[in-house]
Amino acid sequence: MNYKLYIGIALMTTLLMSSCSEESTTQNLIIGDVSNGKTLFETNCAACHQMDGKGKTGFAPSLNNIDFLAIANDHLIKRFILEGRPGTTMIPFKSNPNVAENVDDIVAYMRSWSKDFALYEQISLDYEWKSNGDTDNGKALFVNYCAACHGAEGQGYSAGVPGTGIGNASFVSMVPDDYIKQTLVIGRVGTAMKSFDGAKGVANLTNNEMNDVVAFLRTKGAYNKLVATAAENSEPTTASYTFSGGLVTIPYLLLIIGVTTLALITIIYSLSVINKLQRGIVQESR
Ligand code: HEC
Ligand code: HEC
Repeated sequence: MNYKLYIGIALMTTLLMSSCSEESTTQNLIIGDVSNGKTLFETNCAACHQMDGKGKTGFAPSLNNIDFLAIANDHLIKRFILEGRPGTTMIPFKSNPNVAENVDDIVAYMRSWSKDFALYEQISLDYEWKSNGDTDNGKALFVNYCAACHGAEGQGYSAGVPGTGIGNASFVSMVPDDYIKQTLVIGRVGTAMKSFDGAKGVANLTNNEMNDVVAFLRTKGAYNKLVATAAENSEPTTASYTFSGGLVTIPYLLLIIGVTTLALITIIYSLSVINKLQRGIVQESR
C-alpha cells in the first residue's frame, strides 16, 4: 500500500517543481546589458540628468526617483527616450543609433537603480481609463495648484519654473490619462512634486478634482497610440517587475514554499487516512 503514497508524493513534488520553474521563466525580467546601459547613460544622458539619474531641479527631472520608476513602465520609458520631448532640451534619441539600438540596455540600467528599494512595485497603468473630468474646472484648478511650478500653460522649464513641461503636446500625447492621475495621487518623493491625494497631500484635491485636472491636460494633446506604441513595441508593458535575487522575489518564494508544504502535508495525511480506511475494510471483511 505504501508505494502508492510514495508515488503520490513524487508526482506532486514534480508537478510543483515544474510549476515553480515556469513561474521564474515567465517573470518580467528586464533584458538588457546593465553595464553597457550605464556607459551609454553616462555619455549621453548624465550631462543633464546627472550621474545615477538624480536629476537637477529646473534643468532635467530625476530619473532614479522611485515613484517615477513605479509609474513609468519599461515601454513608456523607452518611448520617452526615443521620442524625446520636442520643445524641450530632451531631444528624440531615435535619431541617435547608438542610443536607439541599445535603448533596452539603458532601461535595464535605469531599473537597476530601484533594486535597493524593498517596497518597489510597478504600478499597472490602465490604458483604457479616461478621466472624463470637467476641463473648465480642471483649468481653474491647474492655474491655482500647478501653474506656479509647471508654468501658466504647462510649458515647464522654459517658463523658468521647477516643474517639467506637462502641457507639452509631445508629453501629453505619449501618456495615458492614468499616468497623469497616478502621478497626482502618488507624487514624486524627494521632489517638489507632492501627492495631491487626500490626507497624504500637501495641497489636497478630491478625486473628481484630480480627474478635472487630467481632463484639462488632455486638451493639450490626445493620447497618441501610434507615437506611444511604435512598431517595435506593440504592447505596453504593464506587468509588475520582479528582480532575480531582489527583495521583491522573497514573498513569492515564501508563498511557493508555503503552498508546497501545505499541499504535501495534505497529500500525506489524506493518503494515510485512505490507507488506514482500506486496512480497516480489509480487517472487517476477514
Ligand atoms: C540636454 C539635456 C538632456 C539630455 C542630454 C537628456 N535629457 Fe532626458 N530630459 C531632459 C529634460 C529637460 C526632460 C524633461 C522635459 C520636460 O518634459 O519638460 C527630460 C525627460 C526625460 C525623461 C522623462 C522623465 C519624466 O519625468 O517623465 C526620460 C525617461 C529621460 N529624459 C531620459 C533620458 C535619457 C535616457 C537620456 C540619454 C539617452 C536623456 N534623457 C538625455 C533633458 C535631457
Ligand atoms: C511645488 C512645485 C510643483 C507643483 C505645485 C506641482 N508640481 Fe508637478 N512636478 C513638479 C516637479 C519638480 C516635477 C518633476 C519631478 C522631478 O524632477 O523628478 C513634477 C512632475 C509632474 C508630472 C510628471 C511629468 C513627467 O514628465 O513625467 C506630472 C504629470 C505633474 N507634475 C503634474 C502636476 C499637476 C497636474 C499639478 C497640479 C495639480 C502639479 N504637478 C503641481 C513640481 C510641482
